Amino acid sequence: GMKAMHVRVYDSQRQTALAAASLFAAKILSKPDAVLGLATGSTPVDTYKLLIKWHKDGMLDFSRCRSFNLDEYVGLTPGHPCSYRRFMDEELFSHINMKETSVPLGSAPDLQAETQRYDAMIEQAGGIDIQLLGLGQNGHIGFNEPDRSFSYGTQVVTLTKNTIKANRRFFGSEEDVPRQAISLGIGGIMKARQIVLIAYGVSKAQAVREMVKGPVDPVCPASVLQLHHDAVILLDAQAASLL
Ligand code: F6R
Repeated sequence: GMKAMHVRVYDSQRQTALAAASLFAAKILSKPDAVLGLATGSTPVDTYKLLIKWHKDGMLDFSRCRSFNLDEYVGLTPGHPCSYRRFMDEELFSHINMKETSVPLGSAPDLQAETQRYDAMIEQAGGIDIQLLGLGQNGHIGFNEPDRSFSYGTQVVTLTKNTIKANRRFFGSEEDVPRQAISLGIGGIMKARQIVLIAYGVSKAQAVREMVKGPVDPVCPASVLQLHHDAVILLDAQAASLL
């Protein structure tokens, strides 16, 4: 039979972030050279703040960890103010002591080669020990949008209208949001040894319901997590309101 997902509901975003940060801290304390899978967007920011605090308090040492981010916009150079590389530098990397951090290169001249290089790097690092995920309003994880099949390796994806709308807040206008991204595939996400997905707010409630209660179907990419042997879903009360 299907393995049950571990779903935990918290009263506040703060408590949810505390639970996520604690799982990452536990991993790093038990495996100081852990390979971390990281995400961007609004959701992980509180979690990163806690990890930064614990690092500054002397509790967490990232010096032997390395990280791989889920995705990057196609066409944006690492220095572009809206790139996910820039976001990660500002929200986490510049505040901690991790030496090796990887984000797909959205400005690579050969995107196909970049997707292969990225998967090879993850493999060489020994695979991802713990993967942080947010959830798209349409059920995407990474930038794996609703589809007819689950993707496997890192690939170039076309963003849906819904995702472009949801992410325009980070850009000047909707027209400025890139139409494509490089994203770890569903297979790449599923290979992570442990998965921690966070969702906040009522805008995610329907996607949360489909992810947890719906069939495993690429129409809701996150539903595949029902098949992962160690996936924890951390929700605030609003995101859990349709469960
Ligand atoms: C980000 C990512 C996306 C986001 C999702 C939710 O690296 O891969 O799947 O996690 O779009 O975004 P927020 O957190 O901004 O609601």
